[in-house]
Amino acid sequence: MGFNPLRLFSKNKSSIDFHGATDWHSHILPGVDDGVSDLDTSLKILARYEELGFSRVWLTPHIMEDIPNRPEDLRKRFEELQTAYNGPIELQLAAENMLDELFVERLADRELLPIGDKGDSLLVETSYFTPPANLFGIIDSVFSAGYFPVLAHAERYVYMDQSHYDRLHKRGVRMQLNLLSLSGNYGKTVTEKALRLLEQGYYDRVGSDLHRFAQLPTLSSLTLPKKHHEKIIPLLSGV
Ligand SMILES: [Fe+2]
Repeated sequence: MGFNPLRLFSKNKSSIDFHGATDWHSHILPGVDDGVSDLDTSLKILARYEELGFSRVWLTPHIMEDIPNRPEDLRKRFEELQTAYNGPIELQLAAENMLDELFVERLADRELLPIGDKGDSLLVETSYFTPPANLFGIIDSVFSAGYFPVLAHAERYVYMDQSHYDRLHKRGVRMQLNLLSLSGNYGKTVTEKALRLLEQGYYDRVGSDLHRFAQLPTLSSLTLPKKHHEKIIPLLSGV
């Protein structure tokens, strides 16, 4: 076997090679939610993403009752960022949709920012602690409207046990893994859940869920055992 730079860190763990990767979840669009607040920081983060080798980044600002962003306003902000950014990374705009009453209204009005090349998916989340009153009903309405729901950071929902994930997976809900969940960033329980869902093959894409520049060192220095690394590699590419 030849020299493999991925094995530099230790015998059993390797760092992730982000060359050609897509980040499916980020809060890098400036000044629109609890993520990055100013354009300079967004550009600084994208410059670091270039060094890491990312080829595409989905900007997924929150839309929820507490942060009722409108797609048309987000599109304008996105155009400003695109004008200011001259690098090679392909930027795409979508949203992270909280499954609340506002979402139900926006879904009915088709006032949405879908994710994915086909524009046929919606990145969705719930509260970490409590499901919406009619979680599976809302999920069904997403399918009825012609979209695949992609559950953001599926591992982070405290109220979800294995039966929830089995039911969601069976229903056709796609799931996104936060890479920082594997670093222990959100605690041991979340890491264990993430590894279990990864081993079960329930994830179909990964994202950083990056909110600030200070999270970048954790992302870039993330190392994984071989068996988990192999499962992550296909999820880093575009879907
Ligand atoms: Fe997020």
